[in-house]
Amino acid sequence: MKISIFGTGYVGLVTGASLASLGHEVLCVDVDAKKIELLCDGQLSFFEPGLKEIVQLNIEKKRLHFTTDIVYGVQFGDAIFNCVGTPEKEDGAADLQYVFQVAVMVAEYAVGYKVLINKSTVPPGTARECAMRMRKVNANCEVEMVSNPEFLKQGNAVYDFNHPDKIVVGAESVKAFQMLQKVYHGLLKMYMPLIETNWETAEMIKYANNVFLATKISYVNELANICDHMGADIKTVTKAIGMDQRIGTKFLNAGIGYGGSCFPKDVRAIIAVAKEKGYTPELFEEVDNFNERQKVVLLPRILAELKRVSGNTVTLWGLSFKPKTSDLRGAPALLLMDKLLEEGMDVRVYDPIAVEDVRKLYDLKRCSSREKSIREKITYCSSIEESVEGSNVIVLVTEWDEFRNVDFKAIAERMKSRILFDGRNIYDEGQLVEGGFRYYGLGRNSFVLGEKNG
Ligand code: UDX
Repeated sequence: MKISIFGTGYVGLVTGASLASLGHEVLCVDVDAKKIELLCDGQLSFFEPGLKEIVQLNIEKKRLHFTTDIVYGVQFGDAIFNCVGTPEKEDGAADLQYVFQVAVMVAEYAVGYKVLINKSTVPPGTARECAMRMRKVNANCEVEMVSNPEFLKQGNAVYDFNHPDKIVVGAESVKAFQMLQKVYHGLLKMYMPLIETNWETAEMIKYANNVFLATKISYVNELANICDHMGADIKTVTKAIGMDQRIGTKFLNAGIGYGGSCFPKDVRAIIAVAKEKGYTPELFEEVDNFNERQKVVLLPRILAELKRVSGNTVTLWGLSFKPKTSDLRGAPALLLMDKLLEEGMDVRVYDPIAVEDVRKLYDLKRCSSREKSIREKITYCSSIEESVEGSNVIVLVTEWDEFRNVDFKAIAERMKSRILFDGRNIYDEGQLVEGGFRYYGLGRNSFVLGEKNG
């Protein structure tokens, strides 16, 4: 089948390259000429495990093509995926202008029957609004709208595409459902996790999914904060409650908040759209507010420790919002770093792949002379060893694998004082105490009893 993909961001490219791997002929379209030039060469502007390999393989097999030519893009595919960005507006709502632009262009240039599939996360009502706008520009347009939200996780996206828990399709005709069955034929044969429903339900499922997970994380983080005051251990608590099959074991890792391009944005977008209709979802509002507070929940404790040892240098381990991605959107590390800099601290940062992106971000972001002097307090490091040189405190923010097996005795020798805050609860206190560290996890009894190892 011939498939066009509009938008070569993370969702568009994973979808395009994966559909090409399933045997379809795919054309990816983007207005960014530089990006397309890179992609034609098999190069990506972001990191996602395994993606570059399938892009290059499918280019070689001549199943994956790239263009900036929009008219050609519209006319190429029988199915057209809309994967353009939906940035967050100031009020938290999703900015749908690019989604609508693609819909209108498709209506203008399409010849014959096609489906236009919204893959980007969009609020309930968007497919209907696209269909209306399309009819307005071309009353004879034969293109049908479909909603088909994606559930990929960054860092695991290629695998997730090929092993979906479900494929959700919202459409208004049997013909459109059949088109989507053809698109996903290769996956449906093996898994059949297909839910066919109307536009609004399909669009809502995506938000329901992400807001539930964000709420689950906030729930467990709140529990961890309480455990800290109770002498209870969150890891054992979550292990036990996870055994209740109604709760399940996944997404119960306490930490310093969720980040990324989806959870924070989707929680805010569904709040904004509900408010527009006159309903205020207070529970979801609190999930969002709580998560922002959770990102800096360790700050007072870090400052207290620094004061105790008369130190001012903090090392942050892990900067991207989660392991195996270079994505910095909503990353707890950045907020924590800003707060530490505001407090006048020196911050040494290390991440296996995101250090240079952070450097670029801060070079662009801050330019007044005051901000320049603040920026000078950041040291960008290229190894774990370098990052702890002369430091007082380590904060593990993002649990990349290489932080899991650290020789803490060797690390301790390079530091001025030995304190570690474990923002993802990946270490055992014993491991750290051996190296002479004071260890603080989240909800692990350490704030009540932690003084014992000092
Ligand atoms: C998420 C959804 O999982 C995916 O289905 C959707 O398509 C896009 O949004 P992603 O943002 O890539 O995917 O990352 P995910 O692995 O879900 O983690 C999101 C955040 O939650 C990370 O910051 C992670 O550290 C945090 N998290 C996750 C926790 O704090 N605790 C957990 O137990 C799990």
